[in-house]
Amino acid sequence: MAGAIRVKQLFLCPSILANETTLLRCRGNVNVIARDISSSESTKRKKKKEIELGRAAAEAVVKKEKRRTRSSREYELAGDGESPSSHVPVMLGEVVDVLSSIRLRSFVDCTLGAAGHSYAIIENHPELRHFIGMDVDPVAHKLAHVHLHSVLHPSLKSSIVRKNFKCIRSVIADTDPEMLDIGVDGILMDLGMSSMQVNNPERGFSVLEEGPLDMRMDPQASLKAEDIVNSWPESELGRVLRDYSEESNWYSLQNKIIKARLSGGLHSTGELVDLIRSMSPGNRGGRQGWIKTATRVFQGLRIAVNDELKTLQQSIYASFEVLAPGGRLAVISFHSLEDRIVKQTFLDILGFQREEKNPEEPRKHVEEELSDKDFGANESWIKQTVRSSNGIILTKRPITPSEEEERQNRRSRSAKLRVIQKS
Ligand SMILES: C[S@@+](CC[C@H](N)C(=O)[O-])C[C@H]1O[C@@H](n2cnc3c(N)ncnc32)[C@H](O)[C@@H]1O
Repeated sequence: MAGAIRVKQLFLCPSILANETTLLRCRGNVNVIARDISSSESTKRKKKKEIELGRAAAEAVVKKEKRRTRSSREYELAGDGESPSSHVPVMLGEVVDVLSSIRLRSFVDCTLGAAGHSYAIIENHPELRHFIGMDVDPVAHKLAHVHLHSVLHPSLKSSIVRKNFKCIRSVIADTDPEMLDIGVDGILMDLGMSSMQVNNPERGFSVLEEGPLDMRMDPQASLKAEDIVNSWPESELGRVLRDYSEESNWYSLQNKIIKARLSGGLHSTGELVDLIRSMSPGNRGGRQGWIKTATRVFQGLRIAVNDELKTLQQSIYASFEVLAPGGRLAVISFHSLEDRIVKQTFLDILGFQREEKNPEEPRKHVEEELSDKDFGANESWIKQTVRSSNGIILTKRPITPSEEEERQNRRSRSAKLRVIQKS
């Protein structure tokens, strides 16, 4: 009988099961029983959900682990051991490895920085005859000149050029037209900022240092972060915060920034950080608090200021075009937006995306597991490839730094290296 009443009551008041607060407002013994049942069922449901969430999280970790290949290479610091800057080149050994089996007569470093990678590559390839280093930052040029001095030799024709890497074709045509005819054997892009840039507060890249809201890689470029924050249309500012910062709270942030324009706008990194901080509950810092949000917001603004994503995509196409048959392009990215572009553009170059759009077309690419034999014993870093008639993606999954490198150099933690070879 009690059971019958219980059932009846539950049918009369279905929200009881779902909401314990509603339940507490009901009166009488029957409802107390119903609360017991509902709470034990809700505990069970909660437990089940917790188990499901735990399982999903574990699967996500495994999947994430599977989608990359952690480098097992021994970690070593820059070859000469006396880098003229505080910048430690990321995945140096791995970059040297991906070009080591090539007869490297020509090499273009699109992101010269302090030339840590270039130094090691020039040192490892005495056959190198043409070298071009590009960077939009004049500070990098000074450091690179000093650093490379000891490895440049009379039979190596070298040019250090202050140009955006999207101009790779015209830079090669201007400096060494012959290189354009024959094709380039190796190209490197090591994306993002150098330590020299981050550590100089005047450049406005650092969340933790007071400086102007600048964020230009190229100090001669006209657009600064301050222009976006104080003058861009509301919707464009929102797009930067949503798509480039990937900030879940982008809309409130956009409104706060727009409101700040009424009282003169934001002109320093500190002012922007204070605004972000004021929006974090209890001004919480750390990984989940305002520092994380501010890092994301700074990243979004930097991407917009330097038009990084469009530039990257265009430049990968342009670089692949200028490669010689058998030549390789290696790209190190530092966040998921960049890595997605590298991955998708490599696939597009191989014609993979066009096939997806037109399923009638025969599949051009073949994914393979390879053994050392396919590429030679010294290329054990090649695990799985994607091929078409145009070329081979040598890293179906990106290579990530060794645990040792991640321990020694925090900046390397998000790095992903992908390599494509032209047929
Ligand atoms: C991570 S650092 C490169 C460090 C370098 N590999 C080394 O070993 O020292 C990236 C460099 O690329 C430059 N850079 C970023 N975007 C660029 C672009 N679109 N064109 C040319 N240089 C760019 C930056 O100014 C910065 O100096």
